Amino acid sequence: MKIAKELLDKYNVPTPRYTSYPPANYFLDEFKYTDCEQALRDSNTHQPENISFYIHIPFCSKLCFYCGCNTHISKDEIKIRDYVETLKKEIKLLKSHLDPNRKVSQIHWGGGTPNYLPIAYVQEIMEIFNSDFKFIEHPEIAIECHPGHLTIEYADELVNMGFNRLSLGLQDFNSDVLKAVNRDPSLVPVKELHDYLKFEKKISVNLDFIYGLPLQTLDSFRDTMEKAVAISPDRLVTFSYAHVPWVKKSQTKLEKYGLPDTEQKVRLFETAYEVLSQAGYQSIGLDHFAKVEDELSIALNNKSLHRNFQGYCTRETTGQVYAVGVSGISQLENVYLQSTKDLSIYKQEIEKGRIPIEKVYFLDKEEKITREVINELMCNLYLNWDQIGNRFGIKANEIQNALNFSFDSLSPFIKEGLLELNNENINITDQGKFFIRNIAATFDPKMKNTDKNFSKAL
Ligand SMILES: C[S@@+](CC[C@H](N)C(=O)[O-])C[C@H]1O[C@@H](n2cnc3c(N)ncnc32)[C@H](O)[C@@H]1O
Ligand code: SF4
Repeated sequence: MKIAKELLDKYNVPTPRYTSYPPANYFLDEFKYTDCEQALRDSNTHQPENISFYIHIPFCSKLCFYCGCNTHISKDEIKIRDYVETLKKEIKLLKSHLDPNRKVSQIHWGGGTPNYLPIAYVQEIMEIFNSDFKFIEHPEIAIECHPGHLTIEYADELVNMGFNRLSLGLQDFNSDVLKAVNRDPSLVPVKELHDYLKFEKKISVNLDFIYGLPLQTLDSFRDTMEKAVAISPDRLVTFSYAHVPWVKKSQTKLEKYGLPDTEQKVRLFETAYEVLSQAGYQSIGLDHFAKVEDELSIALNNKSLHRNFQGYCTRETTGQVYAVGVSGISQLENVYLQSTKDLSIYKQEIEKGRIPIEKVYFLDKEEKITREVINELMCNLYLNWDQIGNRFGIKANEIQNALNFSFDSLSPFIKEGLLELNNENINITDQGKFFIRNIAATFDPKMKNTDKNFSKAL
């Protein structure tokens, strides 16, 4: 795949990432708390019925300069212990709003660095889930790990607790790149760690990389991807580096190296795409790759792939997402509830018996339809109007009216070979995949007249 420079220039414009619809910068900070409590209770009667938990652990031992996440660099054991105690109370508080018959299909630990917590704290929290909730038969219990902290003993304990999916944030194998971004390499050789977890412990391992970091060259990144292929994980992710120094001041530290421009970044991605496709990986959405036998590839081929803030999932594991911890976003059928990022406000609110909500967004019917359309395109690279209509009990033309959609808006994409129409249904081509955010934005009525800031599409 070689993406034409004109297309890169044309489409590298501010565009939502669509990890949620509407994007988080539409969330509102004025709301009635009682409406949020009611929304939590109402979610018990909505679909999907399953519960998906997201647990945010904000702490890290040192700052990676590229980091765009919600983190607190801290070695303060009392602060960390205190956070875990508050988190436990929050889980109990949340439970009081949930129907005890609903089952948990997913628990995802993210951060920050969840594996920076002493293992006993992870155990205490998992015990609450195990004792207080029912689970589906094969729930997905996942954790994002910094491999620079991960020992075999710690990984063993995670597996004993029921974790069955580990993500290792490698970012790059090149030591100069890692040094420039202030990141420690893996403590245990990655191949050894991967093989131990996969073959002896029978759990899934995902590797995370970032392209667009300083000092990465086409040769060095090819080498990193070839090393990744030699490890042979079931899934891997190549994130496009999001440089947002106006939000994350520490990212300016990377500017002295000279960051790759859009075209160089895209060529890095093409290199990864080529190495991974030749090794038999299928690309999933914008940045994920999975072996063809992996359930994500199977779901993509069946057009039943789904996604939430935690990444891609199949329809079986999809649940409404209930987030705990600072900055977490609950994604319910009718509403998004975002928690405070401030550790002390977080604690004060929980002590008062309140969910520490800071921002809220209630979706109307048109927005739910738009969300469904955008998710379908972003996940399955395909849109069948009747199928979407069936999910809402309305006709295809009513879906198009709700979106204020006109087929004329697709003409440029069709001419450029990014999209094909088949009886009005939409297929995104291989090239089009790369511009999926731009394509999705043409289905988004809010983009016709927005005053919001977004990072660039590529
Ligand atoms: C929130 S981190 C959590 C895992 C753990 N803290 C770690 O660093 O390994 C999850 C992933 O987000 C990605 N990430 C973080 N900052 C990013 C940025 N500015 N642009 C693109 N990806 C980023 C990294 O690949 C990282 O592994
Ligand atoms: S990339 Fe991960 S370890 Fe590094 S600062 Fe961000 S959250 Fe922490």
